[in-house]
Amino acid sequence: MRQSIVHPGAENLKYEIREIVEIAKRFNDLGVPIVWENIGDPVGKGEQVPDWIREHLIAAMHEDNVYGYSPTKGLLSTREYIAYERNIEGGIQITPGDILFFNGLGDAISKLYRNLHKDARIIGPNPAYPTHSSAEAAHADSAHITYSLDPQNGWKPDLNEMEEKIVQDPNIVGILIVNPDNPTGFVYDIPTMERIVTLAQKYDLFIISDEIYSNLVYGEVSYKKLAGVIGDVPGIGMRGISKEFPWPGARCGWIEFYNRDKDPLFNQYTQAIIDSKMLEVCSTTLPQRTIPTVMKDERYFPYLKDRCSAYKEKALIAKKIFSEVPELIVEIPDGAFYMTAVFRDGSLTTSQTLAIENDAVRGEVEKLTLYDMALDKRFVYYLLGATGICVVPMTTGFNATCNGFRFTLLEPDVEKFTEIMGTIRDAVVGYLKS
Ligand SMILES: Cc1ncc(COP(=O)(O)O)c(C=O)c1O
Repeated sequence: MRQSIVHPGAENLKYEIREIVEIAKRFNDLGVPIVWENIGDPVGKGEQVPDWIREHLIAAMHEDNVYGYSPTKGLLSTREYIAYERNIEGGIQITPGDILFFNGLGDAISKLYRNLHKDARIIGPNPAYPTHSSAEAAHADSAHITYSLDPQNGWKPDLNEMEEKIVQDPNIVGILIVNPDNPTGFVYDIPTMERIVTLAQKYDLFIISDEIYSNLVYGEVSYKKLAGVIGDVPGIGMRGISKEFPWPGARCGWIEFYNRDKDPLFNQYTQAIIDSKMLEVCSTTLPQRTIPTVMKDERYFPYLKDRCSAYKEKALIAKKIFSEVPELIVEIPDGAFYMTAVFRDGSLTTSQTLAIENDAVRGEVEKLTLYDMALDKRFVYYLLGATGICVVPMTTGFNATCNGFRFTLLEPDVEKFTEIMGTIRDAVVGYLKS
């Protein structure tokens, strides 16, 4: 090429959750059957979409307009429904014009950061959901700026650190929260949310709240969406159906703008996001059409409640199993369907191993771990080679400073889930002892 053709931030685009799949597939081809614990796709993991939801989809497919483009912002009737539901919850009031649909929240995330001024930064959690942290880092061509979620303190955010960083770096224009959080399952309680809103107000920032798991909350904490606490502060709420229905293949999510009228620069930014969506015409029509009919169905919330109970049951099982290992810190999540196990400082070394029966796979693992690498990633490769269980390392997968791994609560068969957790526990114990 006559000159460089790669965007300077491109090396920041990392998604270990999928990258590890390539390695797992190689091990599978070499004879190790894989247990997929890496990705948050309930359907991929065997959860059944109920027949009554499928019937709503089939009914929608009989309508001619679902085969056409929709308005850029999304179907008006759906946005009217979402605005109505939002407003009756109390808090900030919005109109259908404040809602913008995307082809999944992944699409929304990439447009949010792409439309920011290149010097403007968003501070986000550590550990981080990599689509946010990568897209933010790529937009700024610089490492993502983070505040810590503390594994020693139930994953509560360090708001003092958040404030210090905001004070030190005037380029920080916004705060990102993922609530409920991925990968930790942490839920920001209302007082914490209020403190974040106060910080945003004090330093003239806006807030982004990724709420894709907002209908999958099952802990004891008081939960409110950002809209319920935001007051006068500009903000963006992000929601979608990938996890709720669940229908990740629909590629359908939306964002809600709050207090656009309160700040001209924020208003300009939101317009840029809308304009960039307009260049693509619109987002997927059929899933949008099904949102009001599915969510208004009286079976919807009981269905979500059942799913939440099942996640909670599995979280308790995992907690009990991993609590037998003193080197691990494991918190019961309050929402979403992930859980993390964090290795206490000093428990991992570069010489630990696990016995791998399959010669070819052992050779691969030894090759992969030959050079310096994150200690949790090293464990994850050994676990994969020895047991076929595919989890995601915290450091490289979630931009985390603590070593650990994330697994899911999605396995529908509780007995099988218990067995998988037991196998991981035994592998951790064997690895640490080796
Ligand atoms: C916190 C969070 N936000 C956004 C997404 C992306 O969702 P979508 O399938 O709508 O692109 C995910 C997917 O795992 C997620 O965990």
